[in-house]
Amino acid sequence: MQTINIFDTTLRDGEQSAGVNLNFSEKLEIAKQLERLNVNIIEAGFPAASKGDFSSVKSIAETVNNASVTGLARAVLTDIDAAWDALKGGAEPRLHTFLATSPIHRDYKLKMSKEQVIETAVETVKYAAQRFPIVQWSAEDASRTELPYLAEIVEKVIQAGARVINIPDTVGYATPAEYGAIFKYLKENVPSINKVSLSAHCHDDLGMATANSLAAIENGATQIEGTINGIGERAGNAALEEIAVALYIRNDFYQASTRLNLSEISRTSSLVSKLTGMPVPANKAVIGANAYAHESGIHQDGVLKEKTTYEIISPQLVGVQTNSLVLGKHSGRHAFKNRLEELGLDVPERDIKNLFTVFKDLADRKKEMTDEDLAAIVLEEKLSK
Ligand code: KIV
Ligand code: ZN
Repeated sequence: MQTINIFDTTLRDGEQSAGVNLNFSEKLEIAKQLERLNVNIIEAGFPAASKGDFSSVKSIAETVNNASVTGLARAVLTDIDAAWDALKGGAEPRLHTFLATSPIHRDYKLKMSKEQVIETAVETVKYAAQRFPIVQWSAEDASRTELPYLAEIVEKVIQAGARVINIPDTVGYATPAEYGAIFKYLKENVPSINKVSLSAHCHDDLGMATANSLAAIENGATQIEGTINGIGERAGNAALEEIAVALYIRNDFYQASTRLNLSEISRTSSLVSKLTGMPVPANKAVIGANAYAHESGIHQDGVLKEKTTYEIISPQLVGVQTNSLVLGKHSGRHAFKNRLEELGLDVPERDIKNLFTVFKDLADRKKEMTDEDLAAIVLEEKLSK
């Protein structure tokens, strides 16, 4: 069984979501909840970006004991110095430094040759490794980089001291087969690859971040990066709760697991949503309000007979306490009767048929039928006698 390390970047890439700005105490509160969730690594921010980011990274590093805390640095010595000052008080200071490798980024953004990019990456990793016990190096836009060049630079930064190599799909461009193939290629073509942990970092521009992360695991990644609720730059990052639950539910297929306390997922998701002001869509996998709700009569009947007919994840697994049968116009008589019993509404069998007709008429006009609606229907029926 392969163990996958979870690298949470809710406080760094997640905070890069348009319109999100977390203050010091909000960041600390999220970091403490991530510790309860039991993630392996918390990327607490970008220390050189602002005084605020510096102090929150510092205080998170000094507060969190149960996870390794990291901070981001460009391939610039002063960024690495700032990250060291922020992280040195932590239990296991870890640096995350990056440089773009793709032709688009080299030519238009960095205006650097292939050789200059290698030279800068090697120099900055060597500098960082003199202080940090763990240096992670990311090839920004790796998925749009020429594979032989990617293999060459990865080998050189490993020799310079990197302990974790991250292969970001920065713009969410790769397909699962392509992204998996990059990991396979690096495994086969980088001589020192087995000395490091290989990490996946996916964005969701084409809605493939979770699938891409899982494809990376199938091809040798042992660390997955992402955010809670999948928040992040543009369409967001890979949603960690989706990946962790997919590994748990489809363990038969992936043969890999994380150390996450899955029952803390719902609480973590709600906290991140509340503090970032980013609502979770109702139909979002694993944590959406409708993820465990069954509305149609056929599904409700199936679930009442045997839950696993239509429910592959039990809501309790991720800490959701819910009554999963939502009554509406698609509901059947089985679910209707079941809810009346749950509510303790004593209705003789002979009245059920008539009450169900009244229920359906009302449900046709309303989106969702509440327990109060049911009580009113039963009361009215009693009074009419
Ligand atoms: O998406 C990306 O490439 C990043 C890097 C900084 C790792 O977030
Ligand atoms: Zn990113």
